[in-house]
Amino acid sequence: MYDLSVIIPTFNEEENILNIIEEVDAVLKKSNLNGEILVVDDNSQDRTITLVREMHSKKENVNIIVRLADHGLSQSVAEGFTHASSQIFIVIDADLSHPPALIPKMYEEIRAGNDLVIGSRYMEGGGIRQWPLKRRLISIGATFLGRLLFPDITDPVSGFFAVKKEVVVNAPLRPKGYKILLEVLGKGTWENDREIPFEFVDREIGSSKLKFRTITEYARQVVDITFYSFFHHQSAAWREWKKVFKFGIVGLSGIIVNLGLLQLLLMAGISGYISLFFAIAIAILNNFIWNDLWTFRSSSQRRTTSIWQRLWLFYTVSAGGAIINYGIAMGLTNLVGMNLLVSDTLGILVGFIWNFLINRRFTWGRR
Ligand code: GDD
Ligand code: MN
Repeated sequence: MYDLSVIIPTFNEEENILNIIEEVDAVLKKSNLNGEILVVDDNSQDRTITLVREMHSKKENVNIIVRLADHGLSQSVAEGFTHASSQIFIVIDADLSHPPALIPKMYEEIRAGNDLVIGSRYMEGGGIRQWPLKRRLISIGATFLGRLLFPDITDPVSGFFAVKKEVVVNAPLRPKGYKILLEVLGKGTWENDREIPFEFVDREIGSSKLKFRTITEYARQVVDITFYSFFHHQSAAWREWKKVFKFGIVGLSGIIVNLGLLQLLLMAGISGYISLFFAIAIAILNNFIWNDLWTFRSSSQRRTTSIWQRLWLFYTVSAGGAIINYGIAMGLTNLVGMNLLVSDTLGILVGFIWNFLINRRFTWGRR
C-alpha cells in the first residue's frame, strides 16, 4: 500500500513529463515515502503517453490513465482521485511550476491532522515569477471571488495541494475548467486546512492552456458552489453563511441597544447629541461582544490577538461602515433624488457587507 498518491494531470507535456516524474520520484525516495505517481492524461497527441508507459516498465509506482472523453484539467484530477490507491492525494502540475520539494512537507501536514494542505502563491513567502500582467490580473480577480466563499484561504485556486481521500471520496465534484481546488473546497467535507507558501514559476516549455472560456466557467463554478452550500450544510461555504447570518442578528441587536439606550438617556435629561453618541458607542460595543463570543467564536484570532486589538479594529471598521452608509444615503438622495428611506436601506446593506467582509478578514480572519 502506498503512503500517498501524486496526481499529475497532463495534456501534451512531452518536454516536461519525464523531468517532473524524476523529480517527484527523487523527492519521495529522499524522504523515504512510498508514493504512487499517477499521470492522468487527456489523450495527448504528442509522446507524453508513450514516455510515461516506458517509465512504467522501469518504475512500477508510475502509472497512467488515458482519458478519451470529457476533456478537461479538473475532470482529469477528479478521475485521478477515484483511481488513486492511497489515502493521501497530492496534485501537482507537470510543467514544473510547482516545487516537488514541498511534497513531503504537505504529506506531513496531512499526517498531522489537516484535511487539506494548499500550496499558496499569495501568502507571505509565496509568489509568482514570470507572469504577464494579464495573467496576474485574471488570477487576482479569481482569487478575490474565491475568497468570498473561503475567506481564510489565500489561494483558493492553486493547482498545487494535498487532500485526504475522505474529503473528496463522496464529494459530487462536477468540475469544469481549471479550478479543481475550488471545487474540492466547495464540495468536499473538511474542517482543518493549512497553507504553505511557494513560488510559482511559469512554464519554460509549452504554453498555458488557459483560455477566456476558463474565466466564464469559473464564475459559473462560484455560483454553483454557492447554491450547493444552501443544501449541504456540512460544507465549508455553509459555515460562512452561518457567520453572515449571526453577524446580521447581532447587528439587529445593536439597533435595539442603540434605540433603547437613546430613549433612556433622553428620558434622563441628557442632551440629544451626547445621548446619541453614547447610544452608538455602546451599540457597537454590544455588537463586538456578541460577534467575538458567538459569531466568530472559533476564529484563530481569538487566540493570537488581544481583545483590545480586535475591539479597536471593530470600532474602526464600524466607523468606516457608518461613513459608507451615510455617503450612499446622502449621495443617492441628493444626486438622483431617491427617497431617503430607500437610499438609507441601500446604505445599510452596503455598510453591512463592508462590516462583515472587513471584520471577517481582519478582525477575526486568520493571520
Ligand atoms: N488531463 C489534462 N487535461 N491535463 C491538462 C489539461 C487538460 O485539459 N489542461 C492542462 N492540463 C495539465 C497540463 O499539462 C499541466 O500539467 C497542468 O494541467 C497545468 O496546465 P497549464 O496549462 O500549465 O496551467 P496554468 O499554468 O495556466 O495554470 C496553473 O495555475 C493555475 C493558478 O493560476 C494550474 O495549476 C491551474 O490549476 C491553476 O489554477
Ligand atoms: Mn502551467
